[in-house]
Amino acid sequence: MAQTRTVHRCSECGEAAPKWTGQCAACEQWGTLIEEVDSGRPGPVVAAHHEAPVPIGDVDLTAWAPRATLVAELDRVLSGGLVPGSATLVGGEPGIGKSTLLLQAAAGIAHTGESVLYISAEESVQQVRLRAERLDAITENLWLVNETDLDAMLQRIDELDPTMVIIDSIQTTHDTALGSAPGSVAQVRSCAHRLVQAAKQRSLTLVLVGHVTKDGGLAGPRVLEHLVDTVLAFEGDRHHALRLLRASKHRFGATSELGLFEMTAVGLVGVPDPSALFLADRRPGTSGSVVVPTLDGTRPVLIEVQALVDKSTLPVPRRSAQGIDAGRLNIVLAVLERRCGANIAGRDIYVATAGGARSLEPSVDLAMSLAVVSAGRDRPVARDLVAVGEVGLGGEIRQVAQIQRRLEEAARLGFRSAIAPRDAPQAEGIETIRVGSLAEAIEATGLQR
Ligand code: TYD
Ligand code: MG
Repeated sequence: MAQTRTVHRCSECGEAAPKWTGQCAACEQWGTLIEEVDSGRPGPVVAAHHEAPVPIGDVDLTAWAPRATLVAELDRVLSGGLVPGSATLVGGEPGIGKSTLLLQAAAGIAHTGESVLYISAEESVQQVRLRAERLDAITENLWLVNETDLDAMLQRIDELDPTMVIIDSIQTTHDTALGSAPGSVAQVRSCAHRLVQAAKQRSLTLVLVGHVTKDGGLAGPRVLEHLVDTVLAFEGDRHHALRLLRASKHRFGATSELGLFEMTAVGLVGVPDPSALFLADRRPGTSGSVVVPTLDGTRPVLIEVQALVDKSTLPVPRRSAQGIDAGRLNIVLAVLERRCGANIAGRDIYVATAGGARSLEPSVDLAMSLAVVSAGRDRPVARDLVAVGEVGLGGEIRQVAQIQRRLEEAARLGFRSAIAPRDAPQAEGIETIRVGSLAEAIEATGLQR
């Protein structure tokens, strides 16, 4: 057995220090060093066999073709599906639906005839089966085992020899050879390392579930991310049924695609038409509401931006941004004040996106500005109007990417006019009103005094 010693390890980045210090020397986080028994830092994960060089054109890609999980929104985020032999980490807060998502994906893959082993380190096989019944995920080739011990897990993988393994979760997986407690950085990292290594040796598709820590990190964010090929983040608002799946790292495709699900009584159901969902509760004719066609990955999504402006009783008025970039809200407010003569000082301003939608794109600037002006003057904009454009510091409206697709999506959902930058094209079914400045946009919307 390797000689053990005590180290202080950062729970954020995993860096070891011989002595306790208040700040981690590597990632500069404060108060993150925790004393642990260390049995050495695992080396990099490498495939066991060594290969001869081949001409680039002769590299065989057939083994790398992604396999669809039959969960359409997951396949969208993964650019087609899970690549055989790849390691994927799925992170999210407890209760968000990670186990549900992976059970559905496991059943989808098992359905195609491949054997899938679902190792639950948190729930009994009975609990998993009960859930599977609700999800209609009882399939012949889907195997279950309840196990928390790493060596036993590896043995089960040896015995069954599946093509895919799901570990739920990595924080509850325990390597008895290490002295530290389950869930500690040393345990999580070492267990993940050994599992990924075993998976690479067998060309096995591995999926690890990871709970995120309070501040949104994945058990120390950088600890696991470099070990795996793909990192997926499953997010959502506990109070909304909507769930968002994003890739923050993906070695086999783009990371820009967004997967949308709704948590229902029969599990996660894909949301193919997010715009309709985000706009479902909209009350047209209310002041302070402006719709913007955003782009999430390659998919256009319409979002309602709402603003509320109120006289402030505070020495420093409140500025609140939800679902949008707070920094951009401040810029837009300054531009409104200085370039458009809006009276904003001394007012509390709240801007939020409706229905749990989120967009940090600058293309939301114009809708944000018009929503604030509309709320401030208590005058609604036309109900079938959308606005899209970035606001520059000079008050100019700057162009945005892929405007045609955004306008087409707005037209599809019944919007008839769009306030857009100067270079915007005309799209079918919707009139493009081109504006050069924010002042012009306010005038075009009929919001000027
Ligand atoms: P779960 O997948 O256990 O979350 P995680 O693994 O991320 O901790 O799902 C948690 C929530 O989802 C739980 O509160 C119950 C709810 N749920 C449904 O609403 N419908 C369903 O069909 C299932 C399986 C779960
Ligand atoms: Mg779970």
